[in-house]
Amino acid sequence: MADAQKPFLTDIKTLRARARQHLEDGAIGSNNIGDVKKTIEILQSVLATEIVCVLRYSMHSVAASGISSQSVKAEFAEHAKEEHEHMMAVAERINQLGGTPNFNPEGLLTRSASQYSEGANLVDMIKENLVAERIAVDHYRELVRYFGNDDPGTKKMLEWILTVEEEHADDMHDLLIAHEGRPMLKD
Ligand SMILES: [Fe+2]
Ligand SMILES: [Fe+2]
Repeated sequence: MADAQKPFLTDIKTLRARARQHLEDGAIGSNNIGDVKKTIEILQSVLATEIVCVLRYSMHSVAASGISSQSVKAEFAEHAKEEHEHMMAVAERINQLGGTPNFNPEGLLTRSASQYSEGANLVDMIKENLVAERIAVDHYRELVRYFGNDDPGTKKMLEWILTVEEEHADDMHDLLIAHEGRPMLKD
C-alpha cells in the first residue's frame, strides 16, 4: 500500500505545520467575541483530528489480521471508543461556545492534524497510530499552553484529552516493541 512507502518524518512536519498554523494567526485577547471565534476555529480542527482518529482506529480494529492480532484489535477498538469520547467532548464545547460542530466529511482531512492511514499490515497500523498520537500530543500540548488562563474550560478539556493521547502513544509504542522487538521512531 502506498502509505507504507511514505517518509514518516516529512509527513509529520507537514501535519505539524498545518496543525500549528492557526496558532500563529494573531494575538490572544481574553473576553471578546474575536477570541471565542478563534477558539471555535481551533476546536473545529481538534474535532476533525478526533473524528479521523475514530475512523482510523475503527478501521484498524476490524481490519487488523495475523498472528497475535486479537489483542491488538482489542486495543485499537478501545482507542476508537476513547477517541469517540474526545470527539463528543470537543463538539459539546464548540456548541457551548456558540459554534456549530463541523462533522462534515467534506474537507475533513484538511481540517485534521492527523491522517487517515490504513496501514498495509499490523505493524504498519501500529506505526500509523503512533505517528498520529504523537502529532495529537504535540498539537494539544501547544493548545494547552495557548489557552493558558484565558479559557479554563477549554484548557481543562484539552488537558484531559492530552493525558489520554499520551497513554495512547505509550500503548502504541509498547505494541510496536512487542511486534518488532525494538523501539522505533525515536527522535
Ligand atoms: Fe483523542
Ligand atoms: Fe489517541
